Amino acid sequence: MTYFNPYDWIDRSLSTIERAKWSRSTQVITSLPGTEVTIDGQTLINFGSNDYLGLAGDDRVIQAAIRATQSFGTGATGSRLMSGHKQLHQDLELAIATLKGTEAALVFSSGYLANLGTIAAVVGKKDLILSDRLNHSSLKNGALLSGAKIIEYQHCNVADLRYQLEVNRANYRRCLIITDTVFSMDGDICPVAEIQALSIEHSSMLLVDEAHATGIFGTTGAGIIEAENLVGQALIEVGTLSKAIGSLGGYVAGSASLIDFLRNRCASWIYTTGLSPADTAAALKSIEIITTTPQLRQQLWQNIEYLKQRLSKQLPQLRLIPSASPIICIELPDARTAISIGSKLKQAGIFAPAIRPPTVPTSRIRLSLMATHQQLQLERLVNEIDLIFSETEVS
Ligand SMILES: Cc1ncc(COP(=O)(O)O)c(C=O)c1O
Repeated sequence: MTYFNPYDWIDRSLSTIERAKWSRSTQVITSLPGTEVTIDGQTLINFGSNDYLGLAGDDRVIQAAIRATQSFGTGATGSRLMSGHKQLHQDLELAIATLKGTEAALVFSSGYLANLGTIAAVVGKKDLILSDRLNHSSLKNGALLSGAKIIEYQHCNVADLRYQLEVNRANYRRCLIITDTVFSMDGDICPVAEIQALSIEHSSMLLVDEAHATGIFGTTGAGIIEAENLVGQALIEVGTLSKAIGSLGGYVAGSASLIDFLRNRCASWIYTTGLSPADTAAALKSIEIITTTPQLRQQLWQNIEYLKQRLSKQLPQLRLIPSASPIICIELPDARTAISIGSKLKQAGIFAPAIRPPTVPTSRIRLSLMATHQQLQLERLVNEIDLIFSETEVS
């Protein structure tokens, strides 16, 4: 056989990605998280973070992480079932279960791992997964890993989900419906009450990903499940500690038997190192702040309303993707335009990333709001968008 370099395909593949304008790269942020960040020495107003409540840079949270590191070290040193289980983990799991109103909770090293492992643990080859077409990658890959039959239903479309259940449910042992509650790249919300009712009607489990909802929705910040009065229903709730909670890690909240089952069967929890003391303590402190400071949530919602009103008044021609969350997306015709507008915004002192296929079906600028944004920063955003769009031809 003639020798050829078996790695050559990587460069060819990269060129294809480059030609399609799908190429991704990182940028180094050299400041604390907050409404302003420093990138390449330039201070930018930050509309690109998931730190919705501004807790990732909050001194109370930082101090909690420092104290935990001083007391318990930098690493958990082992998996939770071996040497990595600490009192802090137990305290955090109790705090999450209390926030969510569930019997128990389990903390993972990331939200991605929580989704991957949980889905793969609760369904298998004989089972069916019904998945919203726009679900987060961690839900989609968890579904693939499970080996179950996957059917994607149309985005947030209850009629299509009902149809799929009626046609397919009886052919499988278990059925799991999976959906984000707040869709991370659009900012819209799934009709979770109707989906939950359908799940019961068709003897199906329901897993909801509250990654972008926890800390933001509901009277106590528990998420969309609380806002929709579904606390106490049989559900599998997944989420992350890395967005409004401002730390790192993920969790599953649900019945005591579900959590016990995951401790025994969930590979992405069993065979990985426990969350670090710093991340665990930071999340614990943030949850305490979230539950005792509803004003933070109110401030975020005021900012969302303010920005939406200002955008619709000053820039009615913008194509905003329907949103009911801190994620507000301006839809653009193609990846090239999105990149160009993203870089013009950056030159103007605004950090708002361009999101393109294959992450999303259509290109867009994604703005995410924080409770700690000041009105002047929102004004500046609207005026810079106005200026850039008036100079750029957007069809
Ligand atoms: C909807 C959704 N689920 C899960 C995740 C993964 O969470 P983590 O960052 O904790 O891995 C993300 C984003 O990161 C997300 O947007």
